[in-house]
Amino acid sequence: MNMLAIETSCDETSASFVSDGTKVKSVVISSQIKIHAKYFGVVPELASRAHIENINPVIAETLAKAGLSFGDFSKKIDAIAVTVGPGLAGALLVGVIAAKTMASIYHKPLIPVNHLEGHLYSSFIENKSIRPPFLSVLISGGHTELVLVGDFGKYKILGATRDDAAGEAFDKAAKMLGLEYPGGPIIDKRAEFGNPDAIRFTRPYVKGTWDFSFSGVKTALLNYLKINPVKNERNLNDICASFRQVVAETLCYKSFEAVKKFNLKQIALGGGVSANSLIRKMFVREGRKNTVKIFMPSLLYCTDNAAMIGCAAYLKQKECGLNYTSLQLSPTPSLLLENWH
Ligand code: KG4
Ligand code: ZN
Repeated sequence: MNMLAIETSCDETSASFVSDGTKVKSVVISSQIKIHAKYFGVVPELASRAHIENINPVIAETLAKAGLSFGDFSKKIDAIAVTVGPGLAGALLVGVIAAKTMASIYHKPLIPVNHLEGHLYSSFIENKSIRPPFLSVLISGGHTELVLVGDFGKYKILGATRDDAAGEAFDKAAKMLGLEYPGGPIIDKRAEFGNPDAIRFTRPYVKGTWDFSFSGVKTALLNYLKINPVKNERNLNDICASFRQVVAETLCYKSFEAVKKFNLKQIALGGGVSANSLIRKMFVREGRKNTVKIFMPSLLYCTDNAAMIGCAAYLKQKECGLNYTSLQLSPTPSLLLENWH
């Protein structure tokens, strides 16, 4: 099954041509980081405008990279998949309108995809051996969730952040440190040259639940910086390493407690923060120790991209035989992760 997938939930305009859910023939991601960097976060109105400008060129480039043109649509594309939520209302609307328009013109089925399901199944693109049950560790700029995936489309959210998402914590910490947006990759890079034991921030384990809370570590960093302003590059790298260490340890500790408790043998990471080099290493190391298989997307598929949307849509269709018409769907900014029927 050949699918054209579209993703516009936040600040990346992306399209992908995916065969049978995992054969990615082409993927194009147009990032808006430069537009939002000076505001240290995504400005919804600017994001919508940039999506409007980018969406047609991104789709055209995706088709071209797969050796296709709009003229091949009827013969070569079987369905269109699109992110319908959660995300920014105006941003989602641009992708949904583009998808609906093509579905109407070319009479193709349209498959709505939850953005979180995209991240949740992103490991499936490059790993043929993964199948439920597994623990999904969803860590992005807007979400931090531990999800027990009992079967395709059968989700139980074990815990979530009570305040900042992991990516948001990295981004806010970077701003305090005078670093650029998005802070996650910058802190990650600097941390490689720093000492993770330089500052001992308290681990925010939120005992007795599977929830997370990262706002306390952020405040701890703020208080630390008030008394100990950044001295030099080396000191800055130490702070980055210490901050990254506490976020990584917290995520890893809770995830492995959950797999033990629910007797799971697989963990799949997903979302922008799963690009973090320490988090990746730590999960692999703990996985070996505990005989838990760790799956993670390559860096290209960690942050927002349309290939993961095509993958999730294919699984949804294959495992549950879901069919839609183009008129049945609209963007849902606060869409929850729901079980498939
Ligand atoms: O999944 P994503 O592209 O967008 C959302 O759905 O939110 O994730 C973006 C987030 C940002 O907060 C960014 O700082 C973080 O992922 N991120 C990282 C790394 N690369 C991206 N955080 C930590 N380490 C990284 N290497
Ligand atoms: Zn995302």
